[in-house]
Parts: sequence; C-alpha cells; structure tokens
Amino acid sequence: MNKNRTPMIAGNWKMHLNVKEAGELALALKKGLDPDLKHEVLVAPAFTNLWAVNAALSGSKILLSSQDVHWEEKGAFTGAVSPAQVRDAGCTHAIIGHSERRKIFLETDGIINKKLKAAVKYGLTPVLCIGETLEEREAQSTYRVLETQLAGAFAGLKPGEVSKVVIAYEPVWAIGTGKTATPEQAQDAHLFVRRQLEKLYGKNYAGGVRILYGGSVKADNIDSLMAQPDIDGALVGGESLKADKFLRVIHFQEVLKAG
Ligand code: PGA
Repeated sequence: MNKNRTPMIAGNWKMHLNVKEAGELALALKKGLDPDLKHEVLVAPAFTNLWAVNAALSGSKILLSSQDVHWEEKGAFTGAVSPAQVRDAGCTHAIIGHSERRKIFLETDGIINKKLKAAVKYGLTPVLCIGETLEEREAQSTYRVLETQLAGAFAGLKPGEVSKVVIAYEPVWAIGTGKTATPEQAQDAHLFVRRQLEKLYGKNYAGGVRILYGGSVKADNIDSLMAQPDIDGALVGGESLKADKFLRVIHFQEVLKAG
C-alpha cells in the first residue's frame, strides 16, 4: 500500500448464501469492524441479497456492490439487472469483468467496455477485474493480456469518466485454487497495470488509482500482499464468506513501505 491511496478490501460473495445468511454475515462484519478504520470495505452479495444486506449494513461504513451490471437502463433483457436498479438496491459500486463472467458467460472486452461506461454514467464506481490465465502466464503473455484487457475496457472513456474506477488484478490461476500469487508476482503485475494506466490517462491518474489484488487472499497472506507498494487492497472470494477470517483480512497489518 501507499499512504496516498486509500486501501479497499472487497468481499465477493459470488453465488453463495441465502437472504438470511447474507444478512447475518453483513451484521457480523458491521459488529466486528474497527470504528476507526480509515480504509474502505465493500461487500458484493448476489442480486437477490442486496436489499437485505443493505438494510443490515445501515449505520455502518461498509459499502455495497453488485457482482455485475447490465449496460442498458431498462428494457427487454431477461435475467439482467440495470445500473439504476442496483443503485436503487443500495449499491455504490459494481464489479465488472470478473474472470468468471469472462469465461463462463463469455463476456468480451467489448461487453465489459459497455458495462463500464454504463456504470460510470449511472454513478456507480466500477471495480474492473483483469487477469491472465495459467496458459497465458506460462506463454509469457501476462503483460500483453493485461494491456489488451485494459485498453478494451477503457476504450472511449475520457479521463474525467474514469476517475473513480478501481482495478482488481486477479490472475485466473489463483482464483479459488489456494494458489496465491507471491507478493512479488502481484507487485510486478500491479506496477505494469499502473504504467499502462499512465500511458492511457497520465501520471496523475495512474498514481491515484487503486489496484486491488484478488486470488486466494486469506487471513494469513493479506499482510505480506499489502506490504507491496502498488497493492492497494484485495478482492476476496472464499475467505470473505467467514466473518472472523474476513474481519482479519479487513484489519490487515499496515506495513507501510516507501513508494
Ligand atoms: P478467491 O476469489 O478469493 O476465492 O480466490 C477471488 C475472486 O474471484 O474475486
């Protein structure tokens, strides 16, 4: 982390928990949160649980995100949920381009670009996910993949429109596998992402944007990840479903390094 950027710890609850369980987890997090915590905490429940989690979080600083969002405001898009609808349910953020959406639901950089633009238009802060597969890493294509995903997602977005975007670097081979990238591997990718953003939008923007790491983040590896200068937080899947573990991730040890 870098003291000029506010860290963010986000929990992606994926397709887990019913209404009651999600509400209980939200309450436990609210109760366990250090009231003096300076950084941002975000949870992303399934669409059906947003309303209940929003109610449970009332009076707390924990922010609410959807796990995805459609690009249209309304209309005949069976199964989709619009930016206006997720805002109405209490969300301030929307995860966009998660690797599971890219792989299972065949979302392209073009679709992700439309979603990013729609989220920005409707005042949601996008948490844009990027990351390479194992094959791509082994073929030494990591940088090329990240560059393509960033250029595709940001196509046509002006500097003023991207000011709130949060990036999540999630190597696909580390998601749900227990194989975390080493802090050095993650730092290397984060620095590359920051340099790409500098090329796209300039030094000021790149220096201020938060880049989260995601992929098997746990209570016992968060501190070493956060000690890296370009890691500004984490997007946490499995470990965010257990209140005690996720609270430990949220309250990581702040090891400040110059940079
Ligand atoms: P994981 O998931 O922490 O379970 O690896 C991270 C993610 O998919 O965002």
